[in-house]
Amino acid sequence: MSNDYLDLIAYFGIGGAHPGGFALTESILGGENIQPMEAVLDVGCGTGQTAAFLAKSFHCQVTAIDNHPIMVEKAKKRLKNNKPPINVIEGNAENLGLADDSFDLAIAESVIVFTNISKTLNELARVLRDTGRMIIIEMTAEQNLPEALRKEIRRLYGIREVLNEEEWRSKLQQAGFTKIEIIPTPSALILSELDDINQSKNIHSKFFDLWEEHHQLTLQNNQFIGYRVFKCHLC
Ligand SMILES: C[S@@+](CC[C@H](N)C(=O)[O-])C[C@H]1O[C@@H](n2cnc3c(N)ncnc32)[C@H](O)[C@@H]1O
Repeated sequence: MSNDYLDLIAYFGIGGAHPGGFALTESILGGENIQPMEAVLDVGCGTGQTAAFLAKSFHCQVTAIDNHPIMVEKAKKRLKNNKPPINVIEGNAENLGLADDSFDLAIAESVIVFTNISKTLNELARVLRDTGRMIIIEMTAEQNLPEALRKEIRRLYGIREVLNEEEWRSKLQQAGFTKIEIIPTPSALILSELDDINQSKNIHSKFFDLWEEHHQLTLQNNQFIGYRVFKCHLC
């Protein structure tokens, strides 16, 4: 199903397209003790900025997956000659097509909210080893949303649900995650600086308008929508 907001991120080729941006990625992953033999999955990898960082910093075995063909093309271009090599796959987070119990760490940075949340969490739990962990950065409602705002968020981002922290916890538990921590961060949907861009040619003006709408919505509704970083274990 097409999603104008995700098309926008793909056409602009925005790296670090999640709250907190790449600075948050560096800070979270810098705190993880990732070993070279570990298999790491970056689901909804976008243009591959985090995948490149993982391989470069930890020399781990990275698989990067996204279902947007332009994202995959841009990620493949970025990661083409990477050492160690990164496996870039076009695929769906809801049905990964990867083996059970095959990853030590799964990361999703502003991805799951765009999918059928339960299906994706079940898939991530399935591909993680029992000893594995998962880190997700996801939009979270900070309080009850006025109905008009909920509708506006769903329309602008093409998403089905805007979960609050408890609802995220509940979905994570239903998928089999038992230990669920929140990594402390400023919760506002910070507009990260765009310093990693690989723009396509001839972008339709509607995407510039949508980008502006996104900025306005996040600026004006800080008290209603933020994000959380969840770190989860299966056991
Ligand atoms: C907001 S972007 C974030 C990209 C990247 N994680 C980052 O932080 O820069 C969301 C990404 O999730 C991908 N995505 C959305 N639904 C997906 C699905 N069902 N399967 C795989 N990728 C998906 C989009 O194509 C897009 O690349």
